[in-house]
Amino acid sequence: MYFVVEHQEKALQQTILVTGGAGFIGSNFVLQSVGSGDRVINLDKLTYAGNLENLQQIRSHPDHVFVRGGIEDNDVVGQLLAKFRPTAVVNFAAESHVDRSIHGPEEFVLTNLLGTFRILDTCLKHWRTLKGQARDSFRFLQVSTDEVYGSLSADEPGFREQTPYSPNSPYSASKAGADHLVRAYFHTYGMPVLTTNCSNNYGPFQFPEKLIPLMILNALEGRSLPVYGDGLNVRDWLYVEDHCEAIALVLEKGRPGETYNVGGESEKTNLEVVDVICTILDELHVVSAPHRNLIQYVQDRPGHDRRYAIDCSKLKQELGWQQRETFATGIRKTVAWYLSHQQWIKNIHSAEYRKWIDTNYAGRNANCEA
Ligand code: NAD
Ligand code: TYD
Repeated sequence: MYFVVEHQEKALQQTILVTGGAGFIGSNFVLQSVGSGDRVINLDKLTYAGNLENLQQIRSHPDHVFVRGGIEDNDVVGQLLAKFRPTAVVNFAAESHVDRSIHGPEEFVLTNLLGTFRILDTCLKHWRTLKGQARDSFRFLQVSTDEVYGSLSADEPGFREQTPYSPNSPYSASKAGADHLVRAYFHTYGMPVLTTNCSNNYGPFQFPEKLIPLMILNALEGRSLPVYGDGLNVRDWLYVEDHCEAIALVLEKGRPGETYNVGGESEKTNLEVVDVICTILDELHVVSAPHRNLIQYVQDRPGHDRRYAIDCSKLKQELGWQQRETFATGIRKTVAWYLSHQQWIKNIHSAEYRKWIDTNYAGRNANCEA
């Protein structure tokens, strides 16, 4: 069992409109929120990345209302706001994979930029109808990424909230544009918005197109482990539950108009990450050990950002947040989760998934120089 989702009576139950709550981070957040006694209205379009199986534990929970729809649909969003009168909207909905944004950027502009504009604008109209306490306590929280800050060299300090935006991929550019709109709605209209910029997440329910689940699943199937370029790009890894707790804290205590960086303070090269996964699998899944033999260097991603690192001291000092997991504990939990969720994995292996794997990997020559 992952989260123990029991109905906890809260003195003051919040209703939160969560978008993208059937995706990786969104579903973890929904499980955590419902588990802590909040009511969640979950609006998700169910693209290839949305998976209702992630929400199996709360399928018939009275505090979880699932609605299939897009954030760009003003009518649906307006109706949900009017009917459920949430105290907060948390916008996870996005196209989230850099490699897909290279192959097909338009969806990223439509959902991440236009979609965020639409839901923001619908929320503004709703917020203006609120009075008193309801108006004062309403929050719109934009879940963003550290990728908007661009790429760091090896010795530069981590991104701070003041670091200028410098996005390099269609994904990060579309997220950056959305963040600017969120900021503008605070400065222009006084709407109470919050933004979180987070580093790379990992943990249960992550779609296996991203580095960590892709490597785990490929290794389990005895397929090659495709490391882009020299494998020395650095990411700062954060366990997904720690991210969800940070979002809940920012919602509760964050100051409107502010942004908060969220990070794992756990920088690793991609090779280090793959190496740790292989070590754990050699121990837990001895069948195809040693898994390291499956590593294959392949053609690099165009425009590949070299290094991301987050300075999350503002979140720690102002709001008292602290990660619970180290990379060592989080990655072990994650590998164990995938090993014990074989049916979830089987169901993910759709025709669409296979097509994506062909699209992204068939053209990359193996055995490139490391
Ligand atoms: P994901 O791709 O796993 O899930 C995205 C979800 O959004 C899916 O359920 C999908 O069906 C839904 N969706 C897509 N378009 C939609 C639309 N137009 N309307 C409603 N729903 C729609 O993404 P994730 O990894 O869970 O990321 C969630 C958010 O966190 C994104 O905004 C992403 O930019 C941000 N983020 C992710 C990471 C990471 O490491 N995964 C790190 C920092 C920030
Ligand atoms: P990813 O999980 O796609 O996240 P992001 O690009 O948003 O950081 O990739 C993480 C790192 O892993 C990134 O440097 C690219 C690299 N990578 C590989 O080397 N091989 C792969 O097959 C994938 C998907 C990613």
